[in-house]
Amino acid sequence: MSDELTLTRPESATPRTGEPLMEVKGLTKHFPIKGGFPIRRTVGAVQAVDGVDLTVYEGESFGLVGESGCGKSTTGRLLTRLLEPTGGTITYRGQDITHAKRKQMAPIRSEIQMIFQDPYSSLNPRQTVGTIISGPMEINGINPPGGREKRVRELLEIVGLNPEHYNRFPHEFSGGQRQRIGVARALALQPKLIVADEPVSALDVSIQAQVVNLLQDVQREMGIAFVFIAHDLAVVRHFSQRVAVMYLGKIVEVGDRESIYTRPRHPYTHALLSAVPEAALGDDEEVQRERIRLAGDVPSPIAPPSGCRFRTRCWKAQEKCALEEPPLVQIDGNSPGHLTACHFPEEGSIIGDKEIVLDPGLAAMESDGADGPTTAEETTGPVVGGPTAKDASKDTSKDASKS
Ligand SMILES: Nc1ncnc2c1ncn2[C@@H]1O[C@H](COP(=O)(O)OP(=O)(O)OP(=O)(O)O)[C@@H](O)[C@H]1O
Ligand code: SF4
Ligand SMILES: [Mg+2]
Repeated sequence: MSDELTLTRPESATPRTGEPLMEVKGLTKHFPIKGGFPIRRTVGAVQAVDGVDLTVYEGESFGLVGESGCGKSTTGRLLTRLLEPTGGTITYRGQDITHAKRKQMAPIRSEIQMIFQDPYSSLNPRQTVGTIISGPMEINGINPPGGREKRVRELLEIVGLNPEHYNRFPHEFSGGQRQRIGVARALALQPKLIVADEPVSALDVSIQAQVVNLLQDVQREMGIAFVFIAHDLAVVRHFSQRVAVMYLGKIVEVGDRESIYTRPRHPYTHALLSAVPEAALGDDEEVQRERIRLAGDVPSPIAPPSGCRFRTRCWKAQEKCALEEPPLVQIDGNSPGHLTACHFPEEGSIIGDKEIVLDPGLAAMESDGADGPTTAEETTGPVVGGPTAKDASKDTSKDASKS
């Protein structure tokens, strides 16, 4: 996050008090890889999500963070049942919806909504805003008091748009306004759970904060539970009461916001946090964060490493890490609900100046970009050395700016 972003911070990391809304156990999604000629058959699988356990409580905001390709969007689409799980269970308000068919899902559909990353492609350009927002009401046969048009106008007002723009088309709005239309559409059926997949990452830096604040208001005032997916730890910190960190299809650490940000135990969480600029973390940090450069690339989800999936990039890896997968458990010293999947966790504070091997790709970029950020995009987010050059350049710019 750049300094341009002024986010309203929640007064406190309100502990979740509601009942479990959605419970996920062992959730798995493997995308088959087809090959062979003339008969095509399954020759492997992308293990996009591989044994995820998580619980979302009523009215809470739950952040899901990780590098590109770690399975965040796939998890979001599984939760909203836009994708069929390969394994595991999804329970919504006590009801098993893992493989629920369209008819079984009908009464639940309206309660679980999704906001997508791209406000351009997620709105039908040939429909007016009124039609787009009232669409879910029509499909579900819902006629609010005063009619659908009245409700749409109310929704436009809630998301900060002019109700008189009811008859306009998506192309007549800016990117931020379009994302507001997406939010209004998601609110139309008074959902209990919204999965927001990188809802601000396609927006201009200057309007990201406005949309995050809108979502935060909606979450608090309407008591809607949110799963907020992002690669940007700074945004997630501002928005979420609890945070889960994902790596190569698995959750490696989860806990309340304060524990994750001030007393992380998993080496990967340390690495992600070390890339967050101090300013974006708030002014109450007691610890100075040292920059950790992750060695190597994210391994392929087609053939992930044995044991701990992070071991190929972990500075603490030992033989046990290759042999045994670490369970996601509450380890000694963690606060209640703070779970970590690591055999040799870090101490409960940010590590100091460790010598960690610099990925050669990152090193090259670092020497090229030693002058720090040069474009607006480079200042948008803290991303650790990831699989894409774009991510790596953001990472390098942060490092350069601190040194
Ligand atoms: N339909 C699909 N078929 C095959 N592989 C897929 C499919 N969808 C996603 N994947 C793969 O699954 C893995 C996880 O993808 P996913 O989109 O969930 O990651 P992500 O964490 O959302 O990444 P990003 O931050 O880039 O959005 C990736 O390796 C991706 O290539
Ligand atoms: S289990 Fe081993 S390889 Fe995995 S994060 Fe912990 S120390 Fe590193
Ligand atoms: Mg994604």
